Amino acid sequence: MGLAVLRLPSATATGRAHVHVHPAHRRRGVGEALVTALTAQARVHGLRGVIVAVPVGGTGDAFCLRRGLRRLRTLHHLLLSLRDVHPGWLDEMVAVEHPGYRLTTTARVAPPGRADTVPGDVLLTVAAEHGRKVVGCTEVVVPGGDGPRATQHDRPSADDHHGLGLDLWVKAMMLRLLYDDYPQVTQVVTDTAGNDAALLDVNRRLGFRLHRRTNEYRLDVRPEGRP
Ligand SMILES: CC(C)(COP(=O)(O)OP(=O)(O)OC[C@H]1O[C@@H](n2cnc3c(N)ncnc32)[C@H](O)[C@@H]1OP(=O)(O)O)[C@@H](O)C(=O)NCCC(=O)NCCS
Repeated sequence: MGLAVLRLPSATATGRAHVHVHPAHRRRGVGEALVTALTAQARVHGLRGVIVAVPVGGTGDAFCLRRGLRRLRTLHHLLLSLRDVHPGWLDEMVAVEHPGYRLTTTARVAPPGRADTVPGDVLLTVAAEHGRKVVGCTEVVVPGGDGPRATQHDRPSADDHHGLGLDLWVKAMMLRLLYDDYPQVTQVVTDTAGNDAALLDVNRRLGFRLHRRTNEYRLDVRPEGRP
């Protein structure tokens, strides 16, 4: 009829969960019962909150609003087809001068214990440095083997280095590296917060397209005995 999965964090007091009820059994309180059981389990494990992600405008949205959960943010899930991007165009962006800044790249096998990687994945990092300081950075998880889809995580440029085109520079370099060194990768996916207009614009300029959106909600877990 339904299923709730709670993922326990290794270092924080906030877990993540997914709840699903079979369409034939909806609107009969099953979702409510699952969330109540999930909350009890979260409390047993000492969590203070649980985050759930639901498709924008779907049944989960209505359910979370009805339960009074706090909406944290809207995430835009973006997808880039690497074969639609000409490497020469990326070269032009990478070649643009940024006096005082330089790009550095590293590739290493993903360390064990990271929630978003599996053994064999490679972490590729491109950073913009000012002096010895990293002022902007992007990281891509390249799947081990022949997996065609890489996942990109961005750490946009620091406030006092904003507006210089560093994010576009860093990300163009990353795509160029993928082109050359990981030819099996044909798609790049990334999540960008809906209120980060600057990063959404950079991603759009590089050719990323909106794939779907999710809303993240927080379920507060009160310790035993508190209202
Ligand atoms: C969201 C979901 C888990 C709800 O399961 P459910 O068993 O139908 O939920 P309940 O019957 O306990 O609903 C509780 C209340 O939530 C609200 N609600 C649930 N589904 C709704 C819908 N489709 N439209 C409007 N309100 C809805 C209602 O207020 C409902 O109370 P009511 O039926 O007395 O009006 C189910 O629709 C689902 O699996 N959706 C797809 C996966 C998903 O989005 N999961 C995220 C959940 S956090």
